[in-house]
Amino acid sequence: MSYRALYERSIQERDTYWAEQAARIDWHRPFDQVCDYHQPPFAKWFVGGQTNLCHNAVDRHLAARPDQAALIAVSTETNTEEIITFAQLHVEVQRMAAILQNLGVKKGDRVLIYMPMIAQAVIAMLATVRLGAIHSVVFGGFASHALASRIDDARPTVIVSADAGSRGGKVIPYKPLLDEALRVCSHPVEHVLLVDRGLAPAEMQSPRDVDYASARAAVLDAQVPCEWVDATHPSYTLYTSGTTGKPKGVQRDTGGYAVALASSMDQIYCGKPGETFFCASDIGWVVGHSYIVYGPLITGMSTIIYEGLPIRPDAAIWWSLVEKYKVNVMFSAPTAVRVLKKQDPDCLKRHDLSSLKSLFLAGEPLDEPTAAWIGEAIGKPIVDNYWQTETGWPILSLARGVDPSLKTRLGSPGIAMPGYQVKLLDDQTGEELTGADQKGVLTIEGPLPPGCLQTVWGDDKRFVQTYWSTFHNKLVYNTFDWGIRDKDGYYFILGRTDDVINVAGHRLGTREIEEAISSHAGVAEVAVVGVADQLKGQVARAFVVARDPARVADAAGCAALEAEIMQTVDSQLGAVARPARVQFVGVLPKTRSGKLLRRAIQAVCEGRDTGDLSTIEDPTALQQLQAAATT
Ligand code: PRX
Repeated sequence: MSYRALYERSIQERDTYWAEQAARIDWHRPFDQVCDYHQPPFAKWFVGGQTNLCHNAVDRHLAARPDQAALIAVSTETNTEEIITFAQLHVEVQRMAAILQNLGVKKGDRVLIYMPMIAQAVIAMLATVRLGAIHSVVFGGFASHALASRIDDARPTVIVSADAGSRGGKVIPYKPLLDEALRVCSHPVEHVLLVDRGLAPAEMQSPRDVDYASARAAVLDAQVPCEWVDATHPSYTLYTSGTTGKPKGVQRDTGGYAVALASSMDQIYCGKPGETFFCASDIGWVVGHSYIVYGPLITGMSTIIYEGLPIRPDAAIWWSLVEKYKVNVMFSAPTAVRVLKKQDPDCLKRHDLSSLKSLFLAGEPLDEPTAAWIGEAIGKPIVDNYWQTETGWPILSLARGVDPSLKTRLGSPGIAMPGYQVKLLDDQTGEELTGADQKGVLTIEGPLPPGCLQTVWGDDKRFVQTYWSTFHNKLVYNTFDWGIRDKDGYYFILGRTDDVINVAGHRLGTREIEEAISSHAGVAEVAVVGVADQLKGQVARAFVVARDPARVADAAGCAALEAEIMQTVDSQLGAVARPARVQFVGVLPKTRSGKLLRRAIQAVCEGRDTGDLSTIEDPTALQQLQAAATT
C-alpha cells in the first residue's frame, strides 16, 4: 500500500486503522471501543481493554528471546558495560517492583525517578508501570528548585535516585540536590530508594532513605506479577516547559502509548525484533522514554543506554558502540552531530558501520549543512522527525517502514504521520491555510492519535486552556510551532510561537529562567530570550536591571553579578538552563502597557530588524539593550 493510502485510511477509517495497529501488542482483555471522543478534547483510546506496559516491554519476549540482550548499559564515565538479557531484566524488574511494593507503592501511586543514565533507571521505570503505578522521571541535569516543584506537583510516594551522576569525568552528586529539594518542597515523600554507585558520599536519613543494594538482597526471589490496568490508566507523567513558569505534567496513558510506539518503531524507525537500537538521548526527556526504553523493548529489540559525552574518550565513541553492538538504528539530536562535526572526521571512518540502517535526528531544527555532513560522513540515510513531549512519538517524519522510497527533502522533517491530522492555521484569523508555502501555526485536529497526552496531570482545565483554546472558536491542538507546507505535503518548522526555547535539543521555558534569576536579591527586573547559536541551535541570554545600579557601574562589578546570577540558575534549575550571557541595562524595552518586548529583544540579539515599535514606552531602552548585547 502506498504511504498516502495508509495515511488517508488512518484518518478516514480511524477506528479500523487503530484496531489493526493494536494487534501489535499483547492485551490481557480486549478493548470494546477503539476511540471514545464524546468529550472533546479528551480522547480515550482502546476503552475497556486491559494491558500492562512492562508486560509488553519485558514478559512477552521471554518465550521467544530470553537470552537476547534487552538492555545494554554503557558508561564511558565509569568505564563499565553491562548486558542484561530479557530473562535477567524480568528478574531485576520484579526485584525492583518488590522493593517499591515494600515501600508502600500501589497502583496509581507516583514514583519519581531522579537518576543518571544507568540500568537501574530503566528498571525503576519498568517496575513502576508493572505495579500500575505512575512514574515521573525528572531529568538528572535539573537542580533542587526544579526538582522540588515537580515533587510538589507529582506528589510521589517514593523517589528513586542515586548518589551521583557523572559528566565529562566530573562527578555530579545527586543526593544533596535531592535532600535540598525535599527540604523545600511541601509534599511529604515517604521514602527515597538510593542506588549507591560509590561515586559520591550520600548521607542517608533513616528511616526515610533506603539503600537499594540491601533492599534488593532481601528480595532476590521476588515474583511480582504485572498489574493489569485499563488502557486509559496513566503510565507516566513527564514535566515540560511552556509559556508560564510552572512546568506542566504531560500525562500519558498505557494502551494507546504502547500501540503508538509499536507502530512507530515499525513504520518510522524500521526497527525489527532482535535488532539493536541506540538512542543517544536521556531518560529524563521524552525521546528517552519513547525510544531508549519503551519503543525498542516493546518491539523486542536490544536497547543501549549510554552515560557519557559523544566526544569522550574521543569522537569515535558512538561509532565504536555501533560496531561493537551491531547497532541497526540510531537516534540522536542535531546538536550532538554539530558537536561531532568539529572533531576529526576520520573518527567516523575508523569503525565498521555496516549494521547501521539509518540515523534519526529530532528535537530541534536540522539544518541542511549538518544533515548533509553527517549523511556523507557515515554514508547512511539521515531521517529527521518532528514531535513534542506532548505527542510522545513523531508528528512529522518519513514512514519508510511503509514505503522505503519516500524521499527526504532537506530542511523538512517530513510529512504527517498516520493519525495526525495536521493543519496550518493563520495566527490572526484562525482560518486554515490550504495553499502551498503559506506560513501558519501548526495545529492538529482532535482526537489526537493514541500515545499523545491525555491531559495535564491534575489539571484538565490547564490542558484545555493551554493547548485547545488558542484559536477562539476552533477546538484544535496547538503545537506552538510555526510551519510551512510545500505542494507535496512536506512541512518546514520555523520555530516556536511562544516563549519556549530549545537549547541543544533541551526544551526550556524562558519564564522559568526569569523566575530563577529574579530570586537573586540583586535583580530588579529581567528578560530572558532565546538567541540563535551555531552549535546549540539556540542559547538563552538574560538582560537584567540591577537593583543597585552602582554594583554594575564597571566591568568587574558586572562580571561579579553575572557570575552570581549564573550560580543562582545552576543551583535552582541546573546548569542546563544557565544563560550564555547575563548583561545589564538601565531599563528593559516594554510597551506602554508594561509588556516586555521579547521579540524585539531577540531581534536585536540576532542582528535582525525589530519590526514595529510604535508601542514602546521608552525608545532609549532598545538602544541600551543593543549596546549591551553587542559587548
Ligand atoms: O519546537 C519544536 C522542536 O522541539 C519542540 C518539542 O520539544 P520537546 O517537547 O522536548 O520534544 C522533543 C521530541 C523530539 C517542538 O515544539 N522540535 C522537535 N523536533 C523538531 C523540532 N523542531 C524542528 N525540527 C524537529 N525535527
